Amino acid sequence: VEPRNTERLAELQTPGPAPDMKPVTILYGTEYGFSKEIAEKLCRQLQAAGNFWPVLEDMANYPQGYDFSKTQVALVACSTQGDGVPPTEARDFCEWLFAGKAGILGHIKFAVCALGDKSYTHFCRCGKLLDAAFEAAGAQRLIGRVDVNKEDWPVVDHWLAAVVEAVKDLSLQSFADLGLGTSPSAGAEKGPGPKKWSRSRPFSGTVLALDGLCVLKDADDKNTVRMEVDLGNSGITYLPGDALGLYPSNEMKAVEELIQVMGAAPSDQVPVPSWHYEDGDVARSNMTLAEALAKCYDIRSPKPELLKLLVSALDTAEHPGNGHGNGVGNYTTNGVISAARHQQLRCALSDAAAMDQYLAPRHVIDILEDAAPGKLSATQVLLCLRQLQPRLYSISSSPLEDPRRVQVTVAEVKYKSLDRTRIGVCSTMISERLQVGARVPVYVHKNPDFRLPSSASTPIIMVGPGTGLAPFRSFIMQRLIEHQPGEPLGRMLLYFGCRRRDQDYLYGKILEEWAADNKITLFTAFSREQKQKVYVQDRLAESAELVWELLQQGGHFYVCGDAGSMAGAVEQTLLRLISERLDGSRAAAEAYLQALSDSGRYQRDVWY
Ligand code: 2AM
Repeated sequence: VEPRNTERLAELQTPGPAPDMKPVTILYGTEYGFSKEIAEKLCRQLQAAGNFWPVLEDMANYPQGYDFSKTQVALVACSTQGDGVPPTEARDFCEWLFAGKAGILGHIKFAVCALGDKSYTHFCRCGKLLDAAFEAAGAQRLIGRVDVNKEDWPVVDHWLAAVVEAVKDLSLQSFADLGLGTSPSAGAEKGPGPKKWSRSRPFSGTVLALDGLCVLKDADDKNTVRMEVDLGNSGITYLPGDALGLYPSNEMKAVEELIQVMGAAPSDQVPVPSWHYEDGDVARSNMTLAEALAKCYDIRSPKPELLKLLVSALDTAEHPGNGHGNGVGNYTTNGVISAARHQQLRCALSDAAAMDQYLAPRHVIDILEDAAPGKLSATQVLLCLRQLQPRLYSISSSPLEDPRRVQVTVAEVKYKSLDRTRIGVCSTMISERLQVGARVPVYVHKNPDFRLPSSASTPIIMVGPGTGLAPFRSFIMQRLIEHQPGEPLGRMLLYFGCRRRDQDYLYGKILEEWAADNKITLFTAFSREQKQKVYVQDRLAESAELVWELLQQGGHFYVCGDAGSMAGAVEQTLLRLISERLDGSRAAAEAYLQALSDSGRYQRDVWY
């Protein structure tokens, strides 16, 4: 492995390692960028610690494996997603390593930082498996694995410090000793290299259509939009069940307001963040503050670091010149904040719960307004902002309709907090700001755990109220287009729910046509057309006998949509109908459903 410089990390923009420098491999697997942040911080610390040259590698770039033959130290940061699986784009690499395909790694020292979320069942599972896989391949653990709950930086920092100390104690060979080239691009053409279009390198697709799918009547109604994007000759392919990843940009008005509160100017130049993708091959080191805030940074959910930065700035303003109070309160160039406010902000720093409570309802601008930070530079503030993440929407078209066109069904997100109306960045960009002809950065997010059965004769039961319908439109289309006359086609049951037939019956016309032509068996639940709410799970219970019959024939059961209450209620109904047809016990029904799930016959694509 020769050093690659595929990552553009501002601080790492040196021409390439000197021959006497010692390479240290840092591998990360990330979904939302946290592992990457950790890997980058480790890079900086190693550079500061000695004559080390960190080789930063994204697992996503090695779907077919990594050549560890000349690696001496492998430091790994990797998160765990959903049901204990690796980050989407790191999945192939991880499976390659878990399967022992890296061969014998007796020459390697390794350490793993496992990221996860304790509220999920398989906490840090992927990091644990990576740790075990390195060990099983004969590599020696440099320091113990750390399991990090959410973004617990103190725990991460502690591990980083220990890793750096441990690396300093090793006697490592240099690039020259290892016989490796030292030009930064050397080796770039070796190995599988980056996939063409991906989350970190989205394709700029053209919006072909934007249609409202709802007739709005109530005050709390939200629009739902069908958006079609041209994938052109990108070569991007997808399967029914996949999602379209889409990078939003922040609304200019919100960006301008934020810049004003920061006391900065939209045209101020700031460094291009390391995660930014460029449209085309231009590589810039600077961009305007307005562009950076619009395209790269999450200006909504603030990081704890932002509050810490502001409070420490306030503390300094209160005691300028090393702790000598000036007696006029907390003065910054923007104005004066009350001692009580200052105290409130300090309290929010006292523990994680207080921090959460303070940050959760607030956007970045609210916090800056609370603290009136006149003296901070834009760059300081940007370092405390999260990266703007792409949003995923289940694809509702079938590639067989037209492989170059992809269609999604997007419901607007709008809610209230702190007495302000808050809007979803990406959904409102699509429903209100985008126009046909606009370009949007997109990629396909593979969803291997949500797939049609391999045989078209297998019955399928689909439960998808609201936008949960999206992938099922794709499933049904795919099957109908693929189907050859005379060949067996498994029955398709669809349970759809919405408020009212005449308002938010998404794709109602085609669903009714399919049902009339006996292509699908359709069950609808219009929740607000009568006094008593009727939901998809009620329709499921009413048709229990048919569902059971199809399950007995090997049918697959799919649920898509709201994970909060809908998916749970559907599962309870399903368990009840199963138990009534077995021995009446809950345990037997649970075992039956578990077996369905284990064999890929019970699949869910649900979100909060
Ligand atoms: P409601 O808003 O009238 O309560 C799509 O959003 C449909 O899902 C709406 O008809 C909505 O009904 C319904 N829905 C809300 N909560 C649900 C739940 N727990 N289970 C199933 N459907 C639900």
